[in-house]
Amino acid sequence: MTDNASPPGAIDALQWENRRFPPSAAFKNDTLAAGTFLYDEADADYQGFWARQSADLLDWAKEWHTICEWELPFAKWFVGGELNVSFNCLDRHVLGGRGDRVAFYWEGEPGDSRVVTYAELLDETQRFANVLKDLGVGKGDRVNIYLPMIPEAVVAMLACARIGAAHSVVFGGFSANSLRDRINDAEAKVLVTADGGFRRGDVFPLKPVADEALADTPSITGVVVVRRGGNEVEMEAGRDHWYHDLIGAADPVCVAEPMDSEQLLFLLYTSGTTGKPKGIMHTSGGYLTQVAFTHKYVFDLHPETDVFWCTADVGWITGHSYIVYGPLANGATQVMYEGVPNHPGNDRLWEIIEKYKVTLFYTAPTAIRTFMKWGAAEPEKHDLSSLRLLGSVGEPINPEAWMWYQEHIGGNSCPIVDTWWQTETGAIMISPLPGATTTKPGSATFPLPGIGAELVDEQGDRVEHGGGYLTLTRPWPSMLRGIWGDQERYRETYWSRFDGRYFAGDGAKLDSDGYLWLLGRVDDVMNVSGHRISTTEVESALVAHPAVAEAAVVGATDPTTGQAIIAYVTLRGGAAADEQELRAFVGEEIGHIAKPKTIYFTPDLPKTRSGKIMRRLLRDVAEGRNLGDTSTLADVNVVSELQRRAAETPPDD
Ligand code: WTA
Repeated sequence: MTDNASPPGAIDALQWENRRFPPSAAFKNDTLAAGTFLYDEADADYQGFWARQSADLLDWAKEWHTICEWELPFAKWFVGGELNVSFNCLDRHVLGGRGDRVAFYWEGEPGDSRVVTYAELLDETQRFANVLKDLGVGKGDRVNIYLPMIPEAVVAMLACARIGAAHSVVFGGFSANSLRDRINDAEAKVLVTADGGFRRGDVFPLKPVADEALADTPSITGVVVVRRGGNEVEMEAGRDHWYHDLIGAADPVCVAEPMDSEQLLFLLYTSGTTGKPKGIMHTSGGYLTQVAFTHKYVFDLHPETDVFWCTADVGWITGHSYIVYGPLANGATQVMYEGVPNHPGNDRLWEIIEKYKVTLFYTAPTAIRTFMKWGAAEPEKHDLSSLRLLGSVGEPINPEAWMWYQEHIGGNSCPIVDTWWQTETGAIMISPLPGATTTKPGSATFPLPGIGAELVDEQGDRVEHGGGYLTLTRPWPSMLRGIWGDQERYRETYWSRFDGRYFAGDGAKLDSDGYLWLLGRVDDVMNVSGHRISTTEVESALVAHPAVAEAAVVGATDPTTGQAIIAYVTLRGGAAADEQELRAFVGEEIGHIAKPKTIYFTPDLPKTRSGKIMRRLLRDVAEGRNLGDTSTLADVNVVSELQRRAAETPPDD
């Protein structure tokens, strides 16, 4: 097979894979999307297809007059239409007599649990919407959310949506500096946080970290603090309020006012190739249409009987789209879990699946590879027979992990949907439809109905077989509407590389049956455990340390986390710093997820004669590969010294 060709600059091609799995007869019998009718409809008229989905899946207060207005690179969907996102996620289910349906089975890490029905979620959301209003938040304002995985995070998001304020959720693992930068970029008025949350058996502080950020966030006028960790916190009089005090006193009714289809729903910050994170903008009608559509058909959701569990944190796009908006719009019952998968034991997730009889399970390849390391004996301790479908997201899933997932979690009877998408795409773009698509382990298969995806080469010419750059060829309802405060950067980042095409930053290959195989990112963004981290951001953090003169950061292939962060650091003359200290410093600056796995100290970095750091070469060194062409290198000795030291480092330290 010649299918292994990978595009220039992409990471290594995945192993070739020929096994295939057609949908089982049993699954096909009761599936929402058997056959090709959705593809046929969308092929005939993709805009008409989305319009029908939107009318079918959502309640509009006012009908739109134009399905899509497209002035490349700016799209508007369902123009002129009005809807309220929180009404679609809550009120209409309660009004339809489904108020007693469980929205969340919430499981705390220490073992406490809560059951939240749709009626309860609506009640708390209305109260919190009034709390926000009382704190001066109005339509068009931004609210920052910095919370653990607790139901209040969902309430806060839906309360914003209810009053037309945009939320900006910052993952609880981010540091004070990252939080501060994101608050300031969004100019948020209110911050919703918690005292702390539970992780790996301990309480991790949030309010104390937020306090550090709040020292330098002039736009924030109010802070709401949920009590969860029970840790000591300081409350600033006049600015800081306990959530339970405000909720208790709040007016219980907040009518869901219709919003324009293009009303800003949220900002979510993601790494770019330059240091500054990008505030990705998502709006209401188109976003909700596509997350509801994909959640229904990709996961084959039967809301009366299914229990859906997405293990992502609400701080990432996966949590926004497949814990909050998609599932709630569809009236799904879900599991939400606060903590880590190995507390108290390595079988915690399997225990939860058994406890709540989860039927649809959505997780990331990095987690699956960790489960593989812990061994099949862990899931074998539990009855996982309730499961009927498995999903994967966040990075390419290697065929061994796919097969292990199918056998040891899915009991060889669950289809696997490998779903490719991004913060920017808002919703799943490339994925099997479980009752219709024959899958191959490691392939995300085909673009979903309505989605245009093609590979191109360096020159932008279409590639029909082999490796290329993944591009999207037409607007889609949940596409980003731009970068907050910087539409030039939006055009430049996504639409300038290939004429008329959105370039996703990923390499992929097409096999002879037309299946897509994602190959990872081709730019300077690393993918560590499914989190996008830019090399530049980590480098800037390292260089901010007084002892560091220069730093180069690369992502090296790692069997567990997909990529691991490897840093090469040159210290200032006479200065001293050790690996531990620098790792802690990066954790402080950006957050623990960005800490380098290994730091090599070197008197020089390999540079081209024009002074550019040769990251490609450092990646080769980090991955133990023989070096290719080093003819442009200024000083070859630097690299041989680094290679010698890399070879001495034990692989898993
Ligand atoms: C990668 C997460 C291969 C990809 C939803 C993309 C994947 C980046 C897959 C977006 C998949 C996501 N197969 N790669 N199924 N899903 N990716 O913005 O590199 O956190 O560009 O969104 O993750 O990451 P983000």
